[in-house]
Amino acid sequence: MTAAREYEFTRRDFDFLRRLSNQHTGIVVTDDKFDMFYSRLARRVRALGLGSFAEYCNYLEHPDSDTEMVELVNALTTNLTSFFRENHHFEFLAGTALPDLVQRNRSSRKVRIWSAGCSTGEEPYSLSMVLQESSSLLNGWDVKLLASDIDSNVLRQAQAGVYPLARVEGIEKARLKRFFQKGSGSNTGKARVRSELRRAMEFRQVNLMNKLDVETQDIIFCRNVIIYFDKETKRKLLDKFAESLAPNGYLFVGHSESLHQVTDRFQLIGNTVYRKVR
Ligand SMILES: C[S@@+](CC[C@H](N)C(=O)[O-])C[C@H]1O[C@@H](n2cnc3c(N)ncnc32)[C@H](O)[C@@H]1O
Repeated sequence: MTAAREYEFTRRDFDFLRRLSNQHTGIVVTDDKFDMFYSRLARRVRALGLGSFAEYCNYLEHPDSDTEMVELVNALTTNLTSFFRENHHFEFLAGTALPDLVQRNRSSRKVRIWSAGCSTGEEPYSLSMVLQESSSLLNGWDVKLLASDIDSNVLRQAQAGVYPLARVEGIEKARLKRFFQKGSGSNTGKARVRSELRRAMEFRQVNLMNKLDVETQDIIFCRNVIIYFDKETKRKLLDKFAESLAPNGYLFVGHSESLHQVTDRFQLIGNTVYRKVR
């Protein structure tokens, strides 16, 4: 225990909390996250009026602790994201994946895209902008975009679609003008996505550790999520993604994520872009 800490926090408490969060989310927490755990969870100890982390661990063992599990998960996820992060993926989508799908799905005229681990919404809204810009290809098509995350706080922000100006300033001027409006009332000084971006979108809380109850997808963006999982957890999730994708469906992962030696159900076809092969 560090003298400056408000609550006692032992290695045992840390091990208990990281094991519990790993069971629930798949996220592997390394030893160096000890201080981060303390700073993020001391708020919860305080909010619950408890005297120590040992009491907090006991509290989480209680059968009625489901709501606190949500708080625990929300406090521990890493939600870093931005609009058009890894822009080459959005260029690949517009220039290669969508034209290919328009050919392959010409009889159903349906496209389904899933942003799995969407955080505060920048990724699915970027996808939605590309879809709007591809309207000449998709005119009259049935297009749906699913945006999901385990963290209920970030999902709420994604659904609100309101961003501080600093978060949108990297977006091209023409896109900013077309797809955002100035916030008013309590959102003055902020940017709000226009309703056309949300029209085809559904927001849903999905824990990727659970059975994935989604309709068949053509494209899955799951970027900067599996990096926190161990190999076996990744393999199981990639199996579920393969089951959720249509034949030849696309999977986009983050720049430092690789499926190499994890699964052979996908083939690398571009820079961190995969295609389902079986
Ligand atoms: C670093 S963010 C990535 C956001 C976005 N995909 C991007 O690349 O900019 C990772 C997101 O994965 C979510 N996440 C972590 N574990 C998850 C799980 N088991 N099920 C669903 N989402 C999870 C986190 O809540 C977080 O919002």
